[in-house]
Amino acid sequence: MAKKKILFVSSEAVPFVKTGGLADVAGTLPEYFDKRKYDVRVILPKYACLKNQENLEFLFHIDVRLSWRMQYAGVFRAQNNGITYYFIDNEFYFKTETPYGEARGDIEKFAFFCRAVLSVMPIIDFKPDIIHCHDWQASMIPVYLFDEFKNTEFYKNTKTIFTIHNLKFQGIYSKEIIEDVLGVSNSYFDNGTLQQHGNANLLKGALCLSDKITTVSASYAQEIKTDFYGEGLNDYIVKRQNDLIGIVNGIDYKTFDPKCDPLIYACYNKVNFLNKKINKKELQKEMGLPQNEDTMLLGIVSRLTDQKGFDLIDCVLDEILQKDIQLVVLGTGEKRYEDMFKFYQQKYPQKLKANIFYSEELSHKIYAGCDAFLMPSLFEPCGLSQLMSLRYGTLPIVRETGGLKDTVISFNEFEQTGTGFSFCNYNAHDMLNTISYALKVYEDKKQWNSMAKRAMSVDYSWKNSAKEYQVLYESL
Ligand code: ADP
Ligand code: GLC
Repeated sequence: MAKKKILFVSSEAVPFVKTGGLADVAGTLPEYFDKRKYDVRVILPKYACLKNQENLEFLFHIDVRLSWRMQYAGVFRAQNNGITYYFIDNEFYFKTETPYGEARGDIEKFAFFCRAVLSVMPIIDFKPDIIHCHDWQASMIPVYLFDEFKNTEFYKNTKTIFTIHNLKFQGIYSKEIIEDVLGVSNSYFDNGTLQQHGNANLLKGALCLSDKITTVSASYAQEIKTDFYGEGLNDYIVKRQNDLIGIVNGIDYKTFDPKCDPLIYACYNKVNFLNKKINKKELQKEMGLPQNEDTMLLGIVSRLTDQKGFDLIDCVLDEILQKDIQLVVLGTGEKRYEDMFKFYQQKYPQKLKANIFYSEELSHKIYAGCDAFLMPSLFEPCGLSQLMSLRYGTLPIVRETGGLKDTVISFNEFEQTGTGFSFCNYNAHDMLNTISYALKVYEDKKQWNSMAKRAMSVDYSWKNSAKEYQVLYESL
């Protein structure tokens, strides 16, 4: 039987470009499909800030129409871990230092990207059975397909899946972009396809017109039907709930493997678990913190945004740092949170180290070297950082929301079960109490270490989730 052809359309994917978890997913999940049955390829914008550019091979170029504009679209190709990647080149749109910029510009750039993707596939001669679109940046694919490309022989049988990685970002702007930028009729605005609450809304277009919708955990799939998590689209999501499923993310167990990770100070597994201590000691040293074995070392690796619960941390950071705790932070983002961590670093130089930058290497060292990992998110579609922590036997302290709720099992001291610590309400003192409780449990190292080994035993590799996606692909 011929292999099913699947095209991933994403605005980021490792190892080429990453700002968050979407890149981990789009760049690693494709490897985990059954290669005898599926030919999965990925297409990305060719940003100036792309890594590993030297391996890109130029294929051809065409002109792509976007409303009244005619724009150059070059096509490049690369191989990575046995997966074919294509890249759309256009310096006007993609010659940027970061993948994302301001709202209006991003809408034009990703609308162009979507049209270019659909325009180049017939020339590449990769006829997708399914186009798997990720987040709002790929959300015009189902719209352009419906509006125009479905009428061609090439695309007439193509189905679409839209995966919501984060409902907060929707590609919203005023009505004028519908004809002038997107180049489709205003009727898509008037009938609500590309409109929500009086604004043009690109993500809504994908919610309306894709064949199936997925999101990245079962809990988030439920949560987004509510006012609190629905980001203004919950009523519409309820309407499409029969086509919506939650499939939890995995992580790449080859890249994140304490047994042989070249980025950490000392490798370890469940058997020689005590080697994890070397990672703690070296991390404390590198961070300029006292190398105290018995002080609980808490880690954060994150985009610094309100999504991740930094307002809770802001409320009680003084109290946290007055405990026998050290905190290592790695992240960039909103200035108010960067400043918050810098301020407390100055106030508690022996307790807190704020690394306000992006570093793959330091992130691995934190996942390996810390005792616990703090992630008290306001909302969390899935979250990968807690999965990475579990993999390294670093116990997550999380709020019970979205994927955090689905992947971290709260410690039960009576049954000696659980892989981390959690609290329910978005409340700073609930978080503080949970941290205090973890600290108390930490006093009993034997108990702590056996929980850490339990955390290392759970399986959040892509194996299971890829199977669920395959079932979904077959259902189309
Ligand atoms: P989100 O996608 O919402 O940012 P996830 O937990 O799904 O959250 O994924 C975040 C990813 O980005 C993880 O791979 C994490 O290690 C990585 N990451 C976040 N900030 C940094 C940073 N400053 N340096 C290195 N990696 C980071
Ligand atoms: C988004 C979400 C995060 C999720 C990631 C990958 O960035 O914020 O929770 O893990 O996408 O799906």
